[in-house]
Amino acid sequence: MSIHKPQKNITLTRLHQMKASDEKIACLTAYDASFAAILDQVGMDIILVGDSLGMVVQGQDSTVSVTMEDMIYHSQCVSAAVKNAFVIADMPFMSYTNVEQALANATDLIQLGGAQMVKLEASTRQVSIVEELSECGIPICAHLGLRPQYIHKLGGYAMQGKDDASAKELFESAQSLQAAGADMLLLECVPNALAKKITQESSIPVIGIGAGPDCDGQILVLHDVIGITHGVTPKFAKNFLAEADDIQSAISNYVNDVKSVTFPN
Ligand code: KIV
Repeated sequence: MSIHKPQKNITLTRLHQMKASDEKIACLTAYDASFAAILDQVGMDIILVGDSLGMVVQGQDSTVSVTMEDMIYHSQCVSAAVKNAFVIADMPFMSYTNVEQALANATDLIQLGGAQMVKLEASTRQVSIVEELSECGIPICAHLGLRPQYIHKLGGYAMQGKDDASAKELFESAQSLQAAGADMLLLECVPNALAKKITQESSIPVIGIGAGPDCDGQILVLHDVIGITHGVTPKFAKNFLAEADDIQSAISNYVNDVKSVTFPN
């Protein structure tokens, strides 16, 4: 009897190859097994168990109430259904305030949640955390630009890096986090030109949301893609179900549009 589990198609190595060969990376969030299976079957490259679940699943008005228990539970639900896609789990608010805490919580998301990578909202403050996690073998995605966990400090969800000083700071953070060992960057709501510059200057895949067409890949929140978001839908999102017959076709069209750079337009 073999105890060897089949290798997933999408690995970090494959994602790096996709960047190198200019093949766009399609990513979407999921929070449960049924949707994760649909995303996986239509060829999604990355499935993010996002802490956006606080808003779209739990009905809160931000992500800050999401706990490690929530993230482990939803990561388990998603991982159980995914055969090919690369699964990333978000580290929730206040779960990575120091190196020891970050290491323990990231380990739980990988070991218990079944994720292949963790994502944390980052600036240069998180460099030592990224260094330690990376040294310990935990792949990291550094989320830059608009960081929803900072909502109470920001006072709203607005575009980041618009002026020269903040654009420079964001660019330098991206470089430092990559040098510290981050394996992927996610840019949320930054100007297209800045996202393009960061993508061109990075050797790791850069995924964008509201950051223009020049990133190596795109991500959206599942509920926005199938048009069931309650409350405000971000301007950069698109309801793919509006022009499709069913959920599978809508998500498949999203993957095709990301791959062909038809989305974002
Ligand atoms: O939590 C989430 O879903 C995210 C995406 C919006 C990128 O971080």
